[in-house]
Amino acid sequence: MRTIAMVNQKGGCGKTTTSINTAAALAERGKRVLLVDLDPQAHATIGLGHDPDSFHHTVYDVIRSGNGTLSSVIVPTNVDRLDLAPCNVLLASAEMELARISDRQLLLSEGLRPAADLYDLCVIDCPPSLGVLTFNALVASTEVVVPVQAHYYALEGLKRLLETVRIIRERFHPESMEAVGLLLTFVEERSTFSRQIQQEMRDLFGDLVFDTVIHRSIRLAEAPSAGESVLTYAPHSRAAADHRALACELLGETPEAPEAITEGLRRGIQKHLVTLFSGVWIPKAARSYEPGTIEST
Ligand SMILES: Nc1ncnc2c1ncn2[C@@H]1O[C@H](COP(=O)(O)OP(=O)(O)OP(=O)(O)O)[C@@H](O)[C@H]1O
Ligand SMILES: [Mg+2]
Repeated sequence: MRTIAMVNQKGGCGKTTTSINTAAALAERGKRVLLVDLDPQAHATIGLGHDPDSFHHTVYDVIRSGNGTLSSVIVPTNVDRLDLAPCNVLLASAEMELARISDRQLLLSEGLRPAADLYDLCVIDCPPSLGVLTFNALVASTEVVVPVQAHYYALEGLKRLLETVRIIRERFHPESMEAVGLLLTFVEERSTFSRQIQQEMRDLFGDLVFDTVIHRSIRLAEAPSAGESVLTYAPHSRAAADHRALACELLGETPEAPEAITEGLRRGIQKHLVTLFSGVWIPKAARSYEPGTIEST
């Protein structure tokens, strides 16, 4: 099982949004996916339409009681093949409790072991800190994705974060040190500054930066209020396409060409315009196609 931790100690950079929607996109591509909510804020749990306070068993039990509790914690979601290991605010107390336990960084890794037989991929949504919960995620994961907001301040803490990731991976995953990717989020193609940050990140970090970027999109902010991933909330949006592209990049697959949709849409619009303007004289030069040549859809 591949386990991907979404990590950044900076708050609000898109960890939860990327976790939910990438997990959903991986499930859409036929993978069995487990999303682990490791943030006491429980945003991934809420974003997938669940009430965190309704759970008797949560990720807290997986960490505290270890092997054997995972199956009583996992719940289905409204996405086929995507399950959730929810959490609630109780998880916040784990930080303090774990301080007294030796080998405390290994607890999540051990608790998640039974998932390996049930899922192809596991995505862990981390809290905005480099505390014991995030350490557990880094140890439990085979890969790390760092969402980075395309913003000047976002680059500030990145050095410390990458150093922490390097130290933990050197100790626990020396064979897969390179499995770290930086994901640009909140990208605005029309903003020169956003494009500049993007370029600088690529110059500085090279292949570490995913080809895929997540654009700023109101659909991503709206989807959690419907308790859905953006793939069902706005299936034809750019936000959905971005997350599908990221899933493909993670899987090393080629995304379906969006041309299929675009071409269909283009023909639909052409047809509509032809009906609308039928009988209206249009100067030859302004016409990019002959109405008679449009194929029926
Ligand atoms: N690409 C985007 N475009 C527009 N809004 C976004 C985008 N990504 C995330 N958001 C919104 O920004 C806010 C922060 O995003 P999110 O919760 O995913 O960040 P986070 O890193 O998980 O935050 P935290 O550190 O608090 O856990 C949310 O309201 C979310 O809906
Ligand atoms: Mg979050």
